[in-house]
Amino acid sequence: MKVAILGGSGKTGRAVGAALAQAGAATRPLGRAAFDDLPAALAGADAVHVIAPNLHPDEPSYVAAVVDAARATGVGRLGYHSVASPYAPAMPHHLGKAASEDLVRRSGLAWTILQPCAYVQNLLPALRAARTSGELTVPYAVDVPFGMVDLHDVAAATAVALRGEEHVGATYELGGPALVSVADVAAAVGLTARRVPAEPEAHPWLRAMFDYYDAHGLPTGGVPLRALLGRPPASVREVLARDLGS
Ligand SMILES: NC(=O)c1ccc[n+]([C@@H]2O[C@H](COP(=O)([O-])OP(=O)(O)OC[C@H]3O[C@@H](n4cnc5c(N)ncnc54)[C@H](OP(=O)(O)O)[C@@H]3O)[C@@H](O)[C@H]2O)c1
Repeated sequence: MKVAILGGSGKTGRAVGAALAQAGAATRPLGRAAFDDLPAALAGADAVHVIAPNLHPDEPSYVAAVVDAARATGVGRLGYHSVASPYAPAMPHHLGKAASEDLVRRSGLAWTILQPCAYVQNLLPALRAARTSGELTVPYAVDVPFGMVDLHDVAAATAVALRGEEHVGATYELGGPALVSVADVAAAVGLTARRVPAEPEAHPWLRAMFDYYDAHGLPTGGVPLRALLGRPPASVREVLARDLGS
């Protein structure tokens, strides 16, 4: 199976590419240059997996361009990397994914949608900094629940979902094995956690996300991920032991 991965050179795309390659697929990682001639970039692929860059100003247009090119070149299988709780109107970048999901479902292609929660790996830079300060700091509440998930589990689940016909027409919420707070993550490595103000130059959509997190966190179910992997997803403690060396 040949899989073209839009956003394949990014953080998520590299993990998805590695998981697909491990499963025996031939991968074609694509970056922004692919948009110069998308039909040529997709030609000959059996499937395309679409990952938009972080905070893309118009994600529905990005996704629509890939869907159109997939149709034009006869690539019948489509994966879309969305997010947990896409229809959250207070978060513009989530709303862009909700609109994109609608495009995918109406594409006429054989689609699968993945909705991951925040990756545990997002906290690695702050955790490394906390080794010196003794305190994990984030610009949102540290006691609210998240279904934080291992990026590599998300990638492995994507590789499973794209390769099986039984996943056509499915939307999978991908949370980790338990709801955890940032304070729980800090405690897993013997640290405390504290909310700090956002950087003044933080993107307004990130500020909106921090406000949403303050009020609600991002709780996400873990059952679909466990089912796709056929094993329990990695816990926060396991991810940190592997990726942080703690
Ligand atoms: N982080 C999380 O916890 C999380 C959770 C759920 C969902 N997500 C979603 O996952 C997605 C990917 O996140 P990520 O951190 O992996 O992204 P990323 O590293 O920022 O992705 C960069 C990729 O996008 C391409 N790209 C950048 N600007 C572009 C443009 N203007 N037009 C076309 N392609 C462009 C890059 O290509 P070049 O190599 O050419 O620059 C690269 O392949 C985002 O949509 C995010 O919302 C993230």
